[in-house]
Amino acid sequence: MMNFGLMGFGTVGSGVYEIISSGKAGKDYNIKKILVRDPSKPRKVSAPGELFTKDAADILEDEDIKLVICVMGGMEPEYTYIKQALSLGKSVVTANKEVIAAHMDELLDIARSNGAYLYFEASVGGGIPIISSLTDLIKLNTISQVTGILNGTTNFILTKISREHRDFADILKEAQEMGFAEADPSADVDGYDMMRKISILSAIAFGNMVDESNVIMRGIRNILLDDVLAAESYGYKIKFLGQGVRSGEGFNVCVEPALIKNDFVVGNVNEEYNVIMAQGDLIGKLCFMGKGAGKNATAEAVVSDVIKVMSKTDEYSSIKLKPANSEGARFEEMHEYYLRVSFNGYYSLSNTLDKISSLIKRNKIRVYNNMLFMITEAVNDSLMRELCGQLAESGRDVFFARIENNVL
Ligand code: NAP
Ligand code: HSE
Repeated sequence: MMNFGLMGFGTVGSGVYEIISSGKAGKDYNIKKILVRDPSKPRKVSAPGELFTKDAADILEDEDIKLVICVMGGMEPEYTYIKQALSLGKSVVTANKEVIAAHMDELLDIARSNGAYLYFEASVGGGIPIISSLTDLIKLNTISQVTGILNGTTNFILTKISREHRDFADILKEAQEMGFAEADPSADVDGYDMMRKISILSAIAFGNMVDESNVIMRGIRNILLDDVLAAESYGYKIKFLGQGVRSGEGFNVCVEPALIKNDFVVGNVNEEYNVIMAQGDLIGKLCFMGKGAGKNATAEAVVSDVIKVMSKTDEYSSIKLKPANSEGARFEEMHEYYLRVSFNGYYSLSNTLDKISSLIKRNKIRVYNNMLFMITEAVNDSLMRELCGQLAESGRDVFFARIENNVL
């Protein structure tokens, strides 16, 4: 009998329990204990009451348990439990991107020096096998970029705004009911969830941990239906993207809404689906697409990792990580941008146009409903931030997003 400890019995944990107890992964796989906050809580998936505990020591100190599945969420206490399990020589499978983005290097070192395995496929892209694919790609390729729609909740929201013209808050509530959204959905909407996922992929691709403070991050909270419709009228979809791009000796990481032409694959990935594009010098551009969130897809990725642990090979042996570089990122790449600025009457419009012309050339302008819409010529991110900062200071409601052409 292979005994496992399961920490967390929410959306993902209950899915893991169902797959393991179905016997599909291995007839002798057994969940011996389940750690939750409240063992008496009524649950959608049932498990024998004696399995539940709120004491982590029941798992960590049980010598029969050689593998711990950590699917609770948040930094603490999960980070401490993962560290303790690995230090005791227990292997760990986790879906926790917050812990992995910040501590992947340290935790892999602890696992390796204690003869244990650490796998975290479900931490990025839900059911998409992107971590194992990337660890294979880096063996032969120099990776120049990883770009993706890495958050199911926000892709679901953007898809529904575009198709159903519904209210942002109403769609977010639907995503929460479907189990996609984080406990604190601002992690989805403001970009923290995507920042952690793209930091994990960038660290693996470029061999360096990522300092969160170096990531440019702009969320989608301020997107209006008008932006989605204006983008569509220019021939684009608005997508929320995470991107890591090699730049000179280093790399830049950003999380922001971007406009993508309708005929690119990435622009047509909808609902809770995720897509990740990696570009290597030998392989070229590759796309991976699938369900990025939800019970079954995520639990499937977790249980696939459990099977890897049981096969006793270190599939992450190609991951080599230098510590994060605290030097600020430089975003010199030039892009066209979509810009929307609100105004109030003729003088406000004329003043807005003057401000724009003082920094960039005016281009492809449309005006309706007291809003000015424009596609800029190619400029860099700092110039756009300066312009939009000036417009916002003078009381304008502003939204801008780069146009991304370097995808599949
Ligand atoms: P969830 O539904 O909120 O479930 C969390 C579970 O962990 C609950 O059973 C909760 O106990 C338990 N828990 C939380 N804090 C605890 C603590 N301090 N001590 C003991 N138990 C604790 O979360 P989820 O959606 O399954 O997500 C789990 C992890 O997977 C997160 O790291 C998330 O980011 C990641 N993930 C989720 C998805 C997805 O689609 N949901 C996809 C990929 C990755 P109670 O039940 O008693 O409250
Ligand atoms: N909240 C996350 C999402 C869950 O919507 O993608 C999967 O990591």
